[in-house]
Amino acid sequence: MSYHKPVLLKESIEALNINPNGMYVDATFGGGGHSLAILEKIKGGRLIAFDQDEDAQLEAGKLSHRSFTFCLANFKHLKRYLKHHGIEKADGILADLGISSHQIDTPQRGFATRFDGPLDMRMDRNTPLTAARILNEYDERELHKVLGMYGEVRNARTAAHAIVQHRATKEFTVNRELLEVLKPLAPGGKKQNIWPRYFRGCE
Ligand SMILES: C[S@@+](CC[C@H](N)C(=O)[O-])C[C@H]1O[C@@H](n2cnc3c(N)ncnc32)[C@H](O)[C@@H]1O
Repeated sequence: MSYHKPVLLKESIEALNINPNGMYVDATFGGGGHSLAILEKIKGGRLIAFDQDEDAQLEAGKLSHRSFTFCLANFKHLKRYLKHHGIEKADGILADLGISSHQIDTPQRGFATRFDGPLDMRMDRNTPLTAARILNEYDERELHKVLGMYGEVRNARTAAHAIVQHRATKEFTVNRELLEVLKPLAPGGKKQNIWPRYFRGCE
């Protein structure tokens, strides 16, 4: 629970209507709160859990249960993994989308605006694409799209332009630099509400 407190735990487990002999998938293991609750209801069944974060894999390692298998992978590969484990179909799939409290509360992960951390924001740290790389390498049009489409930032075009102007003199490495560039775009007291959108765009 200190890794992540699962949301709507009771409701989501009820909605799964678990058959004790069924086959279930937790697509986003995190700290395993949902997985644990599923395992408590499974008797002859099976649970396969996915997470692309190695920190979640460490948490999964603490859970020894004969009906449980953890896959360190993006759930977009779910079908392939299930096939590999000889599973034809699942009785239920749970996906608790987003980031975990552990990810957001760990300054080195770079997900939070409240820490002065590196511009990383990778869930899967085996991939090379960090937030810093996006900010330093994407062209202005791509940045506009990323911020507008994924971050739902209203002034995405202006923000993209400010980012490109800044990096012409100094590359982005830590989130403080990004926040400095964005400061003039979020005047008044709205920063707490607006800044997370820029970060979500890069996530
Ligand atoms: C909100 S947390 C899940 C918390 C979990 N339900 C629990 O009870 O602790 C989301 C988790 O999903 C993982 N995740 C997000 N997108 C993913 C993806 N496409 N493939 C695999 N894991 C993903 C994140 O790394 C994170 O650990």
